[in-house]
Amino acid sequence: MTQGINSPFRYAGGKFYARKLILDFIPKHNSYLEPFAGGGSIFFAKDKVSSNWLNDIDNELINCYMIIRDNPELLIDNLKDEKATKERHTYYKKEYKPTNNIERATRWYYLNRTSYSGIMNMVNCYWGYGEKYSMRPENWSRNIIRTSEKLQGVNITCLDFEKVISEVVDGSFLFIDPPYYNAAQDKFYTHSFTKEDHFRLCDLLKKNSKRIKFLLTYDNTEDIKELYNWATGIHEMEWNYTINRTDDQKKTNKKTEKEKGSRYKGKEIFIINYNIEPLEDYEQLSIDYNSILQIT
Ligand SMILES: C[S@@+](CC[C@H](N)C(=O)[O-])C[C@H]1O[C@@H](n2cnc3c(N)ncnc32)[C@H](O)[C@@H]1O
Repeated sequence: MTQGINSPFRYAGGKFYARKLILDFIPKHNSYLEPFAGGGSIFFAKDKVSSNWLNDIDNELINCYMIIRDNPELLIDNLKDEKATKERHTYYKKEYKPTNNIERATRWYYLNRTSYSGIMNMVNCYWGYGEKYSMRPENWSRNIIRTSEKLQGVNITCLDFEKVISEVVDGSFLFIDPPYYNAAQDKFYTHSFTKEDHFRLCDLLKKNSKRIKFLLTYDNTEDIKELYNWATGIHEMEWNYTINRTDDQKKTNKKTEKEKGSRYKGKEIFIINYNIEPLEDYEQLSIDYNSILQIT
């Protein structure tokens, strides 16, 4: 068993703030799959089991995971003298031309750690590092090493979700976190997810529902509730979090609301196809994490 750690990446739509709520829903299992891994916040927060599988269609993200798993020291070596500056961000974004997979991972890692909200779609990838709230370059190697340890023995693939859900072994548990249904998520991710993809996912889960257990997270919309009216449970969940602005903002002496951090509410539905232990009332559970999101 490996203990929970944080995702190595900053990731748009990541489930970091909801991870404790989600962990409470996860049933016992020996085989685990995330078909839409992204930053993998749930995989990194939970214990590993006998078989662990992370998949995402974004090949730069997956290449970076593979390099961290298999060649962490080469990535650390490439990043060891880096400084987090706007100039280096522009260089990696616009000028640097990777010639191998280690260099691709170096570029991806640097940009992910220094971009606004970890948004890696190059059209919307902007400088977003702040000394106070972002992980400093001198701590990147520790982050890479502990991630590499957790990724040992993990199956990492870059495929469409349909392939991995169809192939996962019977009895597996899947944490499924697709792009939102009603949100312009195309600006965050490198592959667009259409309405047809949402319907395709629903059909696939219905077809496989007897042989796998899944927890699917979505934005709370009537369309999705209707689409999954065959599921065992649809739970409306809420959690609070605070976004602290980084010090890339104008400096003032007065503590404005902005500097203290703005409060937001995460509101989603958790759709499950299994019965959960009636330990407590899961409906409308609310947790106040009050954590810090690295964002400018
Ligand atoms: C909401 S994010 C996942 C966030 C993740 N749970 C976390 O905590 O960081 C959705 C992910 O789905 C991926 N994706 C989009 N279309 C896909 C497809 N057809 N097959 C597999 N992954 C896909 C995106 O690249 C993105 O990383």
